[in-house]
Amino acid sequence: MFTQTTHTSGGTLARAFRKRVLGSDLLDLLTGPHGVDRYTELVAPTWTRGEARAKVVDVRRTTPRSVTLTLAPNDTFTTTHAVKAGQYVNLTVEIDGRRHTRCYSPANAEGAGNLELTVGRHDGGLVSNYLYHRARRGMVVGLSGVGGDFVLPVRRPRRILFVSGGSGITPVMAMLRTLVTEGHPGTPGAEIAFVHYARTPAEACYRDELAALPGVRVLHGYTRSGGGDLVGRCGPEHLAAAMPAPDAVFVCGPTALIEAVRQHCGPGVCTESFVPPAPEAPPVASGGRITFSDSVVDVVDDGRPLLEQAESAGLTPASGCRMGICHTCTRRKTAGTVRNLVTGAVSTVPDDDVQICVSVPVGDVDIAL
Ligand code: FES
Repeated sequence: MFTQTTHTSGGTLARAFRKRVLGSDLLDLLTGPHGVDRYTELVAPTWTRGEARAKVVDVRRTTPRSVTLTLAPNDTFTTTHAVKAGQYVNLTVEIDGRRHTRCYSPANAEGAGNLELTVGRHDGGLVSNYLYHRARRGMVVGLSGVGGDFVLPVRRPRRILFVSGGSGITPVMAMLRTLVTEGHPGTPGAEIAFVHYARTPAEACYRDELAALPGVRVLHGYTRSGGGDLVGRCGPEHLAAAMPAPDAVFVCGPTALIEAVRQHCGPGVCTESFVPPAPEAPPVASGGRITFSDSVVDVVDDGRPLLEQAESAGLTPASGCRMGICHTCTRRKTAGTVRNLVTGAVSTVPDDDVQICVSVPVGDVDIAL
């Protein structure tokens, strides 16, 4: 269980004590069967050896549809994970006694001690709305798996164009902050341009900071209100206005934005975001039976992804992005056929691992869940 804490003093002595306590194998033996974490978390919820957690140390609501959280991760996270600019982390919150996991890309520069997450509020989004309305200092959240290939190459390109839409701004902010910290735009010929699309100026995150970033040319497009630097939807003229002939392009946002940039730049130049194409077709029930064999639960397929059907049946499988990115939801399909809504791939062989958040049954199917 994550609990709230009012513990404020880290302190060198306290940190050393915590490390000694958590590092002791003997203590695990003495505290069995529950392990040391169940006891140390009573002192402070982030004093856990087995679970990576973080305390919310700052909360800012700078736009009507987003909340920016600063997280101080515990030693379990920092000693086992290094987050590169552009990657995502899985964040778990407890809502009404149930844990829910989603993945978010931190916006902080690479190597910063704390993580900064800016969470965009989605209509009907359980976790994003919970964080927008309820996140507060002292709240403790779970952290797990770091991943994603949307990262800067080790050898930094000289002329880089970034494009983002909506909440796709967060991994781009991490890259911009990292490059500026490294002094990237400071030399002749090394340039950075950034095109960002938001619905209105009020919804554009990080506007003030972007205006002050040294050496970065920033252009805003407002898709609902108009009135930005760019008129209309993303197209070749927007990209050319920002930076003609860049060495590398990074784009993160809705599928339509990625497609527009890809058409202009070509696959050799563009690095795509992690946002996959959204499934467009309405659910089509196969009429088959889904057996969640570990839980001894049977349901009739209604056409939705297996994850949603499992949840509707009262099960609580782990999940993260719910978009086929993070693999948190991967489960063993022991029999039957499923189709991946993102890739279109059809799995017919038994004992295949499938991402249940984006997989739908094709007839009867058995899932080890
Ligand atoms: S929850 Fe991330 S891939 Fe399914």
